[in-house]
Amino acid sequence: MSLSYQAVGWNRTKKIYDAVIAGGLALYLGIFVGMGVLVHPNATAETLLIRALGTAALLLLHVILCIGPLCRLDRRFLPLLYNRRHLGVTMFMLALAHGTFSIFQFHALGNLNPLVSLLASNTSYSSLPDFPFQGLGFFALLILFVMAATSHDFWLHNLTAPVWKRLHMLVYLAYALLIGHVTLGALQSETSRLLAALLAVGLTLVTALHLAGAAVERRNDGSRAAAANGYVPVCNLDRIPEKRACIVSCGGERVAVFKYDGRISAVSNVCQHQNGPLGEGKIIDGCITCPWHGYQYLPETGASPPPFTEKVPTFRTLIVGNHVFVHPSPLPAGTRVEPSVIPHEPTVVNHAQRV
Ligand code: HEM
Ligand code: FES
Repeated sequence: MSLSYQAVGWNRTKKIYDAVIAGGLALYLGIFVGMGVLVHPNATAETLLIRALGTAALLLLHVILCIGPLCRLDRRFLPLLYNRRHLGVTMFMLALAHGTFSIFQFHALGNLNPLVSLLASNTSYSSLPDFPFQGLGFFALLILFVMAATSHDFWLHNLTAPVWKRLHMLVYLAYALLIGHVTLGALQSETSRLLAALLAVGLTLVTALHLAGAAVERRNDGSRAAAANGYVPVCNLDRIPEKRACIVSCGGERVAVFKYDGRISAVSNVCQHQNGPLGEGKIIDGCITCPWHGYQYLPETGASPPPFTEKVPTFRTLIVGNHVFVHPSPLPAGTRVEPSVIPHEPTVVNHAQRV
């Protein structure tokens, strides 16, 4: 197998994206150090720089983690996703600078090799107040390094997408390590309430967005599965008033989709009596009642209750989230179809096994 390297294709959007990242970071670092000088006049330039770089990296990591779920919730965020790897590499560079300065500041002046000092000088793993939090930052930095080093398309193609994706999922492990690094380290020694509050807000935001994004993804999976089974989306659940129908055109036929007692059923819109519009009628005594002359049909079977013998074709339905899907092939008049149950929560109700 031969591997060929392709240089990054710089286009105008990428240049603007990177200029915004660089400008935003310069502004952040400037403001952080400027404010630091005012609020902590005794802090050294190194300390301020270490903190500015560390918080900038962590902030950027939050942005990176939020972009994925945001794109699932709203496609307008997609341009941020396309160049997310630039953000990732920038974040790694900031974290690397923070880690390197910290090692110089705290571990370079003794007899030990700075890296040995970083990992071995403090082994109080059982003590929360003295926990060697820098080690957590170090391992997070190693993960960020592997991700930044393999971020180019070259690695995506040669590692294959599934392996690359699994590798880059390690970002969540790095995030967890960093939560530990900051809470156990900086928070304990500095008792900075603002940083603690910001970290809690960040973690809550990342978690909430991931949960919301996962719900949308599940719904989309359900919609894709429904479409794969030949169902077509016809309307939103909220569009159908209780005990009434929404009339839709499906597979060239007019179909009346009724909502009643937490369920959905679909029948042909055409009444067997004189072609009256069943979907303009309502459910009375459990039966679809034609608005023209009152002929009645059971919503599950499309058959008139005994002793009457009229029957209309029925249609299979699915509910995915807030969407109603109907299979466009009508079933023979009078065929029973189990109604779709409206979930309390917007989850997938899949009746595909009956299909
Ligand atoms: C070799 C790796 C690392 C070392 C040795 C290290 C070391 C340190 C040290 C000594 C502090 C306390 C600084 C102080 O309060 O004055 C600190 C805080 C911090 N670190 Fe790291 N770190 C490393 C990796 C990381 C990484 C990868 C990130 C983020 C991506 C990070 C983010 C932070 C943050 C946000 C703080 C709190 C800043 C503050 O004190 O205001 N660190 N780190
Ligand atoms: S057309 Fe439906 S009852 Fe007459």
